[in-house]
Amino acid sequence: MRRIPLDHLQEGMKLGRTIYTEDGSILMREGTELNKDVGKKLRKYGYESIYVTDALSSESFDDMISSKLRVMSVKEVKNVFQSFDTYQRRINSISSTNLNVNKKIAYEASGKMSKLATDIVSDLMNKKHNEINMVDIKNSKGYLYQHSVNVAVLSIVFGMKLGLTQKKLQALAVGSLLHDIGFNFIDYDQIKGHAEDDIEIFDLVKDHPEKGYEYLKDNVDISAHVKQIVLQHHEWCNGEGYPYGLKSNEIAELSKIVAICDVYDNLTSDHLYRAAYEPQEAQEHMMVESVKRLDADLVKQFIKITIPYPVGTVVSLTNGELGVVEDVNLDYPLRPKVKVVKQVVGRVELYTRDLMEEHHLLINKVEYEIPEEYLN
Ligand SMILES: [Fe+2]
Repeated sequence: MRRIPLDHLQEGMKLGRTIYTEDGSILMREGTELNKDVGKKLRKYGYESIYVTDALSSESFDDMISSKLRVMSVKEVKNVFQSFDTYQRRINSISSTNLNVNKKIAYEASGKMSKLATDIVSDLMNKKHNEINMVDIKNSKGYLYQHSVNVAVLSIVFGMKLGLTQKKLQALAVGSLLHDIGFNFIDYDQIKGHAEDDIEIFDLVKDHPEKGYEYLKDNVDISAHVKQIVLQHHEWCNGEGYPYGLKSNEIAELSKIVAICDVYDNLTSDHLYRAAYEPQEAQEHMMVESVKRLDADLVKQFIKITIPYPVGTVVSLTNGELGVVEDVNLDYPLRPKVKVVKQVVGRVELYTRDLMEEHHLLINKVEYEIPEEYLN
């Protein structure tokens, strides 16, 4: 199984993972035969890339959390974020009844997020392997909710690797699920489709950490760690972030973790302004970012648990050969075993190259298009 942009759909490919509509109902089941028309349909629903299986990359692998839990989590986050529409309307006409209703909405929301965080933490703690081996595929319509859930998944996996306590993992999970809650209090439709650092909309975007914090600060059910994450997830280690321009030693560790996972998820997601980066490209961007924005030591540790070329990825090698990653050595993830496909006198030949043994060879890049003869 491998992720490809929809432009690269080829006959003979099948859908590698079930995909869902914005509301969480099944849009297309795993195993569906794919063609250009199916690609058009998926685009209408806001998808730009999908997981596929084909003759080269036929094995599927599990999501980091169960699909059922992911779909349910996205739905729950959406419900919670949208409950604030009611909240906002009420805040415009302040009366004691409205204040009480607002309080009820806010406390119900935090209770739901706390329960959801517990479910995601326990699902991840029950898994044997805790590396980040896949990117989350989102649709443009439900981006904010899917992003919130995936940042929680990434943060918990990373937090477990760092040996954080259960209490901190829980805070990390709730904080990640709520980190962008402040977007509810600004005109998110105006922001959609723009990069976060787009100068024209930056004035709108830069308020979301404080708006989110303002909303949560009096809620006694929400821990100080969570509130800090919401407020600080865009602070940069060089002091040039927002809202306060805090320096590295003033930013809480959990906020730095969420900032890293936020950036990674953003880079590996499709956006209206650019296509998703492959994990390896995202890692390189993050190393550059670590000079100014992210905590350099934490970035190094994060990169150790993200697999740049997961099993199933089709790659070209520096000698021009094409192959599929068949086994990853977690200590040397840039040097996997690659099953090379080659056409020799009219027939396809397969053989494995172990890049740990063949030092002269490197992965050149991820390939999406595969010559027809290799697909049958
Ligand atoms: Fe944010």
